[in-house]
Amino acid sequence: MAGAVHAQYEELPYPPRDPEDERKRLVTGSPSHILEIDHYLYAGARDWSEPFRVLVAGGGTGDALIMLAQQLADRGCPAEIHYLDLSAASRAIAERRAAIRGLETIRFHTGSLLDAARLGAFDYVDCCGVLHHLADPAAGFRALADVVKPDGGLGIMVYGELGRTGVYHAQEMLRMIAAEGPNPERVAVARRLVESLPPTNWLKRNTAIGDYRGEDAALFDLLLHAQDRPYRVPELAAELGTAGLRPVAFITPALYDPDTFLRDPELRRRLADLTWIERCAFAELLSGHQRKHIVYCVGRARQDDTVARLDEPAVPVCREIDGPAIADAIRRDGTIRISEAGLKMDIRLPPSAPSMLRLVDGRRTVGQICATIGAAAQSDEARRQFAATYRILNGANQMLLRYPAGSAG
Ligand SMILES: C[S@@+](CC[C@H](N)C(=O)[O-])C[C@H]1O[C@@H](n2cnc3c(N)ncnc32)[C@H](O)[C@@H]1O
Repeated sequence: MAGAVHAQYEELPYPPRDPEDERKRLVTGSPSHILEIDHYLYAGARDWSEPFRVLVAGGGTGDALIMLAQQLADRGCPAEIHYLDLSAASRAIAERRAAIRGLETIRFHTGSLLDAARLGAFDYVDCCGVLHHLADPAAGFRALADVVKPDGGLGIMVYGELGRTGVYHAQEMLRMIAAEGPNPERVAVARRLVESLPPTNWLKRNTAIGDYRGEDAALFDLLLHAQDRPYRVPELAAELGTAGLRPVAFITPALYDPDTFLRDPELRRRLADLTWIERCAFAELLSGHQRKHIVYCVGRARQDDTVARLDEPAVPVCREIDGPAIADAIRRDGTIRISEAGLKMDIRLPPSAPSMLRLVDGRRTVGQICATIGAAAQSDEARRQFAATYRILNGANQMLLRYPAGSAG
């Protein structure tokens, strides 16, 4: 089976990328966005002038690799970045993307992440969309846990079972009618099948899954993969625990919080005593929406609080859309639309949110923003409204925190 997985990614590198596009745009995502690494693994206070050793395990065609290498280069970080993948064809695409951007600090390796130990120890390990394709995922989790330094962390993505409802039904059907033969022929059969799905079919009903309408590599990855096992939150937590890892955050946070979906106070009260992981598991069952689980984790030996806390000296930073642009998106009734892979939620922000967001520029601290607004209103009230705005936007993975060097966290 491992041979089949390797052969698939030699023939159909995933995700398909044209290196020339690097001249036009930077693909960003999760895990491994530098603001997320800082916020969730270093309490917002990592000094990026210090060396940073990174492993991108199963780096594929290079999305996380290029994003993080570029973000580290932009900060002038003396980083050493290692890319590791079984597929030489994928590596060639990633290498070309790096060359076009002039990212010369990346070292490329062809091989299995199960042998990552030969590359030494790392401050950060990215492994996105890979471990669920291993014959023995537990061995993969262990191999990665073993190469993280005691004060480092990991960003992992594995498939979510409930959000992929229908995918495994289609995979099962295709194993009955297209298990063998050349890949283009199997892809053609898969296309015929998805075109013929009745409205009652679970894949057809699952509007969050659209990959089968795209390129061959995406269709193959979704429906014809030789090895693919999804996780629910408790299984993932158990897998991490067995490998000696501790989860510290799931992305997108609001999707893992039952309160995002529940208004009924009695239900909320009954959920209050659950552990964080139990609440995440409940939210997954409730929304059924997680097609993937993105989790930041650290070694169990790491006892410090790794997630940035909202405090006066923190600088709020926006991930994709800047503060004023978020302010512009707030409607007259005070609500903002938050979309996550087809799930749309209209959430009400506090009345001062638009004025506060116009002050979020990646330099002003929470204290400065609240003091500016607090001149007009009470400063305690300004802090309360900022905290509420932050909770919503951090939950939507739009706002993170950064403690500039020298500030108290
Ligand atoms: C779905 S792609 C994901 C690529 C990339 N991480 C991303 O998110 O865009 C899975 C990648 O994992 C690689 N892979 C699978 N098993 C591996 C293993 N045991 N060691 C290293 N790479 C592996 C495949 O060759 C493929 O490039």
